[in-house]
Amino acid sequence: FFSNLFYKRIMMEQLDLYLSIAIKAAKMSGDILKRNFKKQFIIEDKGNRDIVTSIDKASEELLYRYFQKVTPEINFYGEETLGNIEGISWVVDPLDGTKNYVHRIPYFGVSIALCEDLLPIVGVVYFPLLGELYMATKGNGAFLVKNNEKSIFVKKQRILCSSTERIDHCFLATGFPHSKSQLLGDYMSELENVLKNVSAVRRFGSAAYDLCQVAKGTFDGFWEHGLESWDMAAGALIAEEAGCTVSKSDGAPWNIKSPTIFVSNQQLHTKLLDIFSSK
Ligand code: IPD
Ligand code: CA
Ligand code: CA
Repeated sequence: FFSNLFYKRIMMEQLDLYLSIAIKAAKMSGDILKRNFKKQFIIEDKGNRDIVTSIDKASEELLYRYFQKVTPEINFYGEETLGNIEGISWVVDPLDGTKNYVHRIPYFGVSIALCEDLLPIVGVVYFPLLGELYMATKGNGAFLVKNNEKSIFVKKQRILCSSTERIDHCFLATGFPHSKSQLLGDYMSELENVLKNVSAVRRFGSAAYDLCQVAKGTFDGFWEHGLESWDMAAGALIAEEAGCTVSKSDGAPWNIKSPTIFVSNQQLHTKLLDIFSSK
């Protein structure tokens, strides 16, 4: 009785509603990160050469409370408190780039995704010191909104991945699996192969930032081993909606539980996969 178009519209309206909730949450969390950036905060050891600050915790607490209040029907899964990732779930990183934050480097942000059966359908990443908020919903493109000098969000613009085709022009980002040393062997041989072929490789210290920069076309691609769902979920959707191909580092289909991620523009994807595994 109802047309497909009707269902599509309902679906889009639903996604837009969740997108606006995620944006509001990201701005509130971003304010906490920005306000405390230059202040003293508590830093604790969290595991194998990993740390957590009182600001990571405050940001997650705010996100948890907010999502419980406005979407009690949706699960919550955050880096600092975990929770339930199954079914429909908010998957959040309350502060991506904690070590940058501690060393007062402005590449850090909050990453929020709504996931359905381990695949992101809404993604928002906000870098409060850079004044950049990235967003996407499944099937509807990726966008960037910037803050002006008065901290008001202006100029929503669509973002697209790069169109670089030549490997020797390729500008890539990566992350080191420094706290998962069992992954270093494979990673180092990939890195060696990549360094012998591409124009340059950068390491920024925030996977969410790397993914958004591939979405925006600054980098032609990004790969990392050993990331967690909260690091990648939102950024991967934003990159995909900007036209990138997202897979595991062997080219197999990716989801938020995948142990690796490899994102690049479509033209470079297969060529780079060959380089990762070349001898
Ligand atoms: C880290 C950052 C970093 C990546 C690490 C992540 P955190 O997240 O995204 O770029 O290399 O693997 O753990 O700990 O700052 O939220
Ligand atoms: Ca992270
Ligand atoms: Ca984090």
